[in-house]
Parts: sequence; structure tokens; C-alpha cells
Amino acid sequence: MKKFNAFFSGLLLTLTMSSMTAQQKTNILVLIHSDEGGTYEMAKEIAKGIESNGTSKAFIKKVTINDNPKLKNIPVASVNELASYDGIAFGSPVYFGNISTSMSEFISKTTAIWSQHGLEGMPATVFMSAGSGAGRELALQSFWNMLAVHGMILVSNGIRGYENIDKTIPQGNTVLGTTSLASLKNIERPTPDERYLAELQGKNFAKVATALQGTFQKNKVVQATRDKKEEDINTVLHQKNIKLPEVPKPAGNYQPFVRSGNLVFINQYALKDGKIQNPGKVGRDITEEQAKEATRTTMLNILSVLNQAVGGDLNKVKRCVQLTGIFNTTENYSKHAELMNAASDLAADVFGEKGKHARATLGAYSIPGNSSVEIQAIFEIE
Ligand SMILES: Cc1cc2nc3c(=O)[nH]c(=O)nc-3n(C[C@H](O)[C@H](O)[C@H](O)COP(=O)(O)O)c2cc1C
Repeated sequence: MKKFNAFFSGLLLTLTMSSMTAQQKTNILVLIHSDEGGTYEMAKEIAKGIESNGTSKAFIKKVTINDNPKLKNIPVASVNELASYDGIAFGSPVYFGNISTSMSEFISKTTAIWSQHGLEGMPATVFMSAGSGAGRELALQSFWNMLAVHGMILVSNGIRGYENIDKTIPQGNTVLGTTSLASLKNIERPTPDERYLAELQGKNFAKVATALQGTFQKNKVVQATRDKKEEDINTVLHQKNIKLPEVPKPAGNYQPFVRSGNLVFINQYALKDGKIQNPGKVGRDITEEQAKEATRTTMLNILSVLNQAVGGDLNKVKRCVQLTGIFNTTENYSKHAELMNAASDLAADVFGEKGKHARATLGAYSIPGNSSVEIQAIFEIE
């Protein structure tokens, strides 16, 4: 019996330890801004290095939206999520010997996290894509300046990997972080050696992040951030499985949105996958259920344009001010308000209290593309 008990206690211990090991994988954010894709190429190598020893998972995210086809599917990070990682690798283009304005703007939004010591003790590393490389160490240094103010532990490269690279051509190696010299096109950039150095940097960074895991109070700070602010909208979208469609292209000589002061004005109809969803007149060509489906689709289009207007951070939306629903109806139709609830409910679902709005609904003889609905929306943003 004793032997039997010892066997099962051992088994239990092994299972517990292996599940602890699985839980303890470090999560590392690879946070980039990239305009032309050079920084993204480097980010992929950094992420490869991070994941190479099997103890860490890399999440590549960007600081703002970018319509470049190479970059548009990368998720946009929110400032609030930064403190929830075990380490962050920052990447940016070199612009005039500095980090990019978009990256700088993003970091400037971290003052609340800073005052709560939210990134203190968390490891950070930096990498960049340059042109000729002019001023690249200055630019890497300016990243370090900002991150040092946060109290992050800056992980340098030193001369790691230097002995293995081809020194007959210019390479982007630096002691502060790997770069790529993207405009020196005698060879494809990043060069295999720049990729190799970035991968090594990622691998070393994961080693440091794993060693430091649990030595700083990330969860406490995230909780404090959540208590103080409303819930992160990206998390809400994820939890409620709400997927924003691609931003519809304007069908004429107008803008998808206009910002005037802190107000954003958006008009959309029921375009889905390039076609009008459930076209026609409510009560004659389509049912009320189909009109509600088209209304929700229209509101999703509004939200996706709004997301563009706030640079991919829906947390910047202060409130939904007004929605106007115009429905393609027969002469005597009167249940516009019920149809419009499909849009109003979605606004409240995503933004909670901030989603409550003033509203108007009306019927129209026809709507462009024979859409059953058009929505005009006004939002207040930061
Ligand atoms: C406004 C501007 C300023 C730039 N300044 C520098 C610079 O100071 N040093 C440098 O090596 N490259 C400079 N470049 C080149 C970019 O760093 C290079 O194109 C980089 O690969 C872009 O990164 P991305 O492909 O991720 O957008 C500059 C480019 C622009 C558009």
C-alpha cells in the first residue's frame, strides 16, 4: 500500500510540475511600428529567436494601423496590455536618427502605467530598420532613454554573433540592438546575417525574460489599471467574438470619416464582402430579420472606420454621441426603431456606458446600392 501511495504521489508531483512548466511559459510582446515592412522582417526574426528554446511565446503587434498589405493583418496593441507581458522587444524604423513618431506617440501614452511603476523591472530590448544606418545608434539610444524612465531592464546585444557574420559588406549589428541597413541594396535586406543577429537577440532576450519571470508585479498593476479605467475595448471585442470587417472603400469623392475637433463623422451602409447584404425594401423585398442583420453589418462597418479614425485604439473613443438610421421602407412602415436597435445594441455591447447615444430613425424611398439601411454616426474621441 505504501509503495502504491508513493507511486501515485510521485505521479501527481510530476504532473503538477509539468503543468506548472507549461503555465510558466513567458509571454513576450514584439511591439513594432513599420511603414515599409523592414522593421516587421526584423520582428519576425526576433520572434523566431524568442520561441527557439520552447520556453517563451512571442506576440508581434503594431502600435498603429497601417494599410500596407504586408502589415495590415498584424494586430494593434493597446497601451493597457503592456504591463501584462514578461518582456517587450520594441522595433521601429530609424527616422532622422530617432525612433518613429508613431512609436514615440504610443510610448507617450504610457504615463498612467509609468506612475504605477507598471513596467518597472520588466526586461526590454530594441531593434530597428534603418536606411543607410546614419544615426542608428542614436536612435536605439533614444529608445533606451524612454524605456529607462520606465525602469525597464534594458537587454543589450554587445558583440553577440559578430564572429559569424560576413564582414565584407556593411551589416546592421550594434551593441544596443540589431538593425538592418535597408537602403544598401547590393544584397537583399535584411541580410541573412542581420536576420541571424536578430534571431540571436530574440533568443537571448527570452533567456533573460524567463530568468526574470515573476520578479515584478505585473498582475497587480494590470488589475489597478483595469479598476481605474474601463475595460480594454480590444479585450471586449475578443471576448464577445466581434470581428471588425475591412474598412469599406469610399464609393465616390468623399472620405470614410472626417474628424472635426474631437468629433468623428462616419456614414456607412450594409456592404459585406464587397456586396450589399440583404438588399431591398423592408416589408416588401426583405424581412425585418434580414434588415436587422444588414443594420448590424452597417454598424460593424462604422466601427471599423472608427477604429481607423482612432489609429487602431478604440479605447480612445470617449462616447458614441448620435446614431441616425435611415431605412429603405415601404410607405406605411413604422417599426424603424426596432430595426435600429441592432445597431444601438452593438454600440452598447462594445462601449458599455460610453456606447449610449442620442438617436434618430427615418424611412427613405431609396438608398444607394439598394441597401436596406444607411447609418450616420457621430463619436467623440480623445
Ligand atoms: C523621414 C525619414 C527619415 C529617415 N531617417 C533615416 C536616418 O536618419 N537614418 C537612416 O539610416 N535611415 C533613415 N530613413 C530610412 C528608414 O529608416 C528606412 O527606410 C527603414 O527601413 C524604414 O523602416 P520600415 O521598412 O519598417 O518602415 C529615413 C526614412 C524617412 C522616410
